[in-house]
Amino acid sequence: MNIELHSESETELFGRQLWQILPPKCLVFLRGELGAGKTTLVRGLLRAAGHTGAVKSPTYTLVEEYDIAERKVFHFDLYRIADPEELELIGIRDYLEQQSICFIEWAELGKGFLPEPDIVLNLSHSPNGRVLNLSSNSKNNESLGNLHWKNKDILL
Ligand SMILES: Nc1ncnc2c1ncn2[C@@H]1O[C@H](COP(=O)(O)OP(=O)(O)OP(=O)(O)O)[C@@H](O)[C@H]1O
Ligand SMILES: [Mg+2]
Repeated sequence: MNIELHSESETELFGRQLWQILPPKCLVFLRGELGAGKTTLVRGLLRAAGHTGAVKSPTYTLVEEYDIAERKVFHFDLYRIADPEELELIGIRDYLEQQSICFIEWAELGKGFLPEPDIVLNLSHSPNGRVLNLSSNSKNNESLGNLHWKNKDILL
């Protein structure tokens, strides 16, 4: 499923809509080159969740944590890790096993140390902004719900 996102605010809006359907525990990989809009999408989601403070890119901190709306959101950016084993050192398993929504940018750099994601969002540059390709991998074919987007419902 491909979705066109024509501006930064549309990327945020998509994140907002995603918040409506994500279960309290799930793992989302955000793929896409530098500047593709991964952090922007997470910012939109956190805004929808009611987070009013800054949403910093976790490029240097590796992970940013948010306790909002009685849920936990962890936002990882693995761009700067030198070796996937660093994930063991930060206790990645503790994060993933918690009741938490985990977003991971540059998950490919953590290969071998991360489980299969529930959702993969792939962003790429396009002449009209960005294109988002979305695939879900929900367990037991249980659907995550209908994501409302521009008068359409996308079954995830
Ligand atoms: N749909 C869009 N159309 C045009 N610009 C966009 C769109 N979505 C996001 N942007 C812009 O893209 C830029 C980079 O966004 P962002 O920091 O979210 O990228 P990123 O994928 O997280 O990059 P990195 O891999 O460096 O962390 C921002 O300036 C943002 O405003
Ligand atoms: Mg980013």
